[in-house]
Amino acid sequence: KGTKEQLIIDAGQKHFGATMCKSCGMIYTPSSPEDELQHVQHHYRFLEGIKYTGWKKERVVAQFWDGKIVLVLPRDPSYAIRKVEDVQELVDNELGFHQVVPRCPNKTKTFLFISDEKRVVGCLIAEPIKQAFRVLSEPTGPGSPSSKECHRAWQCSDVPEPAVCGISRIWVFRLKRRKRIARRLVDTLRNCFMFGCFLKIDDIAFSDPTPDGKLFATKYCNT
Ligand code: ACO
Ligand code: ZN
Repeated sequence: KGTKEQLIIDAGQKHFGATMCKSCGMIYTPSSPEDELQHVQHHYRFLEGIKYTGWKKERVVAQFWDGKIVLVLPRDPSYAIRKVEDVQELVDNELGFHQVVPRCPNKTKTFLFISDEKRVVGCLIAEPIKQAFRVLSEPTGPGSPSSKECHRAWQCSDVPEPAVCGISRIWVFRLKRRKRIARRLVDTLRNCFMFGCFLKIDDIAFSDPTPDGKLFATKYCNT
């Protein structure tokens, strides 16, 4: 058989047989060498990044049947800070965010959801804020752009409202979504952000939500 013919057949197969890796969650096509290589690189980097070996001093702020939530504060030991940075890098890569420098890094609170398989499967980064702009319900009716077209351009009110806590990142590992991990992270945040009080929903704001983030926030805020 001619090599040329074989090449054409391989090229045609490239888009078939996509699978999701059961460990790292990446969707790729095993029959494509480039995809396979990208997967191998992502696979080890990702699993190394979310590995959690346990710390001598860890601040467990919530415990569940399937895991626990650990709080990391800015002055914690460097091994904890490094883990937070690794996880944030993975999250930012997935979200397509560029490295954003927090406004007041010494006041950032990071909540990590640790699964019983000793992996960081959820992350919430919060910071104190003074005001936020409410997202207005999407415009509907003839001629208005569909929600698909205006991805992140949600309409916001131009009247600032007082708020206390901004969620700058919320992320759950792809294979662990829809198990209420994000909900438990926000509940725990409300309980731990300010000593001695449980924050009201109106005290919290989600910054620049993605479509996933908006679906979650809408549901969370209405229940
Ligand atoms: N589609 C529709 N409804 C959803 C979705 C979704 N993708 N995600 C959550 N919800 C709603 C559901 O009603 C859900 O309850 P149900 O499963 O009983 O129906 C409810 O929210 C609670 O969901 P959780 O299970 O607590 O959410 P999860 O742990 O899956 O995490 C998250 C949600 C964090 C948005 C996750 O999908 C994710 O990591 N996505 C990728 C990263 C991302 O986009 N993060 C938000 C960025 S915006 C920001 O950081 C400020
Ligand atoms: Zn993988």
